[in-house]
Amino acid sequence: MKIRKICCIGAGYVGGPTMSVIADKCSDLEVKVVDINKERIAAWNDSDLNNLPIFEPGLDQIISRTRGRNLFFSSEMEKSIANADMIFISVNTPTKTKGLGAGQASDLSWVEASARQVAKYAEGHTIVIEKSTLPVRTAQAIKEILEATKKENAKNKNPKTFSVLSNPEFLAEGTAISDLEEPDRVLIGGEDPEAIKALVNIYLNWVPIEKIICTNLWSSELSKLAANAFLAQRISSINSISAFCEATGADINEVAKAIGTDKRIGNQFLSAGPGFGGSCFKKDILNLVYLSGYFGLPEVANYWNQVVVLNTWQQDRIYKIVLEKLFGTVSGKNIAILGFSFKANTNDTRESPSIRISCDLLEEGALLSIYDPKVSFERIKEDFERFSFNNQGIWKMVNSIPDALKNADAVLILTAWDEFFGLDWKYLASLMRSPAWVFDTRSVVKRQEIKNTSLNLWKLGEGS
Ligand code: UDX
Ligand code: ADP
Repeated sequence: MKIRKICCIGAGYVGGPTMSVIADKCSDLEVKVVDINKERIAAWNDSDLNNLPIFEPGLDQIISRTRGRNLFFSSEMEKSIANADMIFISVNTPTKTKGLGAGQASDLSWVEASARQVAKYAEGHTIVIEKSTLPVRTAQAIKEILEATKKENAKNKNPKTFSVLSNPEFLAEGTAISDLEEPDRVLIGGEDPEAIKALVNIYLNWVPIEKIICTNLWSSELSKLAANAFLAQRISSINSISAFCEATGADINEVAKAIGTDKRIGNQFLSAGPGFGGSCFKKDILNLVYLSGYFGLPEVANYWNQVVVLNTWQQDRIYKIVLEKLFGTVSGKNIAILGFSFKANTNDTRESPSIRISCDLLEEGALLSIYDPKVSFERIKEDFERFSFNNQGIWKMVNSIPDALKNADAVLILTAWDEFFGLDWKYLASLMRSPAWVFDTRSVVKRQEIKNTSLNLWKLGEGS
């Protein structure tokens, strides 16, 4: 089956960059990305590439090469679906907030709506691909929705047929373009060999065949959940040891280096910090917890749940340390927050540790000055409102690091943006009140950098 036209439903952090790279690597394909959010589509089409809806290093260059050539962003759902040979479903799957499984299971409303749109508008044979991370056996639900068109087919001269594949995305935000261009592996789950071959052929434009793994549908769906659970577990493991280091006088960076040199453990993903954020880790683990319970495996559910419990605990304990070091009260004190995104090189704040830690400080009466090079004021406002409806605290967003630190009693570094390394702490200390504290949760500040200043330094995972 020769694929000529691709449609991707969902122009978010996954759909946008993934389709941009596919369009870049396969100039003979026409790639259309559609979204119900018209503002988002307008931002993807903005002539000023600084206004793209997501910030991702290298994305603007790809967009400037491909947009209007073979990559198009549109809200025209019906025609884009009808014309497509292959459709990627790349919509949001947040954790349910209400009803059965609330707080754990994924909310599949958007996936189901997309499948219904595909069932309604598709023409001829269409390959439908799950790109969003989904609970195991979702492909079955998608198949059932698509098969409901069979009745309608009976009257149709050109009947609709579908093949469903799972092709989870492993990109990490901030490095999405290099992850897509040089993936560790591409995973394709499915039952229809023709459909699998068609998707493999697309990836073969830039991915070596030995990196393309084909499995059954359920293994593919589960592998994505399991990969994220393993990665998150690693972060909770190193964060648990960071607390141990603080209690005993060990140093988390030295410990991470020492254990990471064991080839079996490996040296990546061992940076202690304020806990994992992002749209995937917490959601996917909670989903795994829910499914484990559903399938009658409570011990498995408890095991994975602990990874999330530890992550929240890490954030709580940081806020409590700030409180303790500032003589038990932050009421009326100025605290600078450096970094609001959940990691560096993205403007995404979903599940960012900065949200919980900031809200806890605001509840204690702190006055926050927040600086982040890419996150907008509106995004932070929404995050605070969603996290804590009663949040009456006073906070402002500032445009520079010195503005944040002016008259501050403390500065809390929560994201490892490049510009936070190697700061002139002598100068910054002169802007702050005295005594002042630097709380570094990302190993950004070197102890000798603040040596000749009046500042007190607390570093996560560094025992005294
Ligand atoms: C993750 C997976 O890495 C990716 O494969 C999957 O497709 C989506 O989920 P992402 O959430 O974008 O990607 O970023 P990632 O780099 O994994 O970081 C997640 C969180 O863990 C961030 O908050 C980050 O700061 C934190 N982290 C990461 C650490 O605290 N320490 C580390 O060593 C690595
Ligand atoms: P992800 O990180 O998984 O890409 P995002 O929330 O960034 O998640 O993006 C998902 C996108 O999917 C959003 O822009 C949302 O508007 C879009 N979307 C959700 N449901 C539909 C739908 N039925 N049709 C088209 N787009 C949709």
